Amino acid sequence: MRIVLATGNRHKAEELGPMLGGRAEVDVASEGFAVDETGATLLQNALLKAWALRPEVPADRLVVADDSGLEVRALGGRPGVHSARYAGPDCGFDDNNRLLLSEMDGVEDRRAAFVCVLVALSADGELAAGCGLCPGDIATAPRGEHGFGYDPVFIPRGMGTSMAELTPEQKNAISHRGRAARMLATALGIAE
Ligand code: IMP
Repeated sequence: MRIVLATGNRHKAEELGPMLGGRAEVDVASEGFAVDETGATLLQNALLKAWALRPEVPADRLVVADDSGLEVRALGGRPGVHSARYAGPDCGFDDNNRLLLSEMDGVEDRRAAFVCVLVALSADGELAAGCGLCPGDIATAPRGEHGFGYDPVFIPRGMGTSMAELTPEQKNAISHRGRAARMLATALGIAE
């Protein structure tokens, strides 16, 4: 089986490639692949990315697209589907983390979850999906150098460390993306 990942985010490609690649050959969409994420849900945005890439890819390959985000209880589920652009249209990861920590300043209920939806779309329109959730808490200060995005300010449930302090293997074992990828791999018959 050959898969093309519909993402221009190199961090996601680095995480997803090995997760799906045990029994499939995984390529990544050309750099700069981007789609207007106008969907109201993670599933809609994942489908928008898959549909956008599908015509660009030979029929014998599956297109796999994801959308993911951080949902914070005390913020009514924000930033959620808007996680990438939480602090503004041109923001970076540090801007988002600063804004999140300031919105959470003094907030007692720090519960949150990373959520990921993955879809696989074949040339004849067959669809498979996987989803995953990683519960945890928002930290009071960033810690750790691994991963990307909100990893330095997210403490996975039951762990004394931030997500950014975990090795890639440790993160994949518990992450929303790891869980979604294992569900999708099972649906596709390529689970290891
Ligand atoms: P999108 O899926 O490309 O819309 O981006 C989702 C955004 O959610 C990313 O830009 C990150 O800010 C955040 N995010 C998604 N997954 C992770 C993760 O594994 N760690 C940290 N942040 C993440």
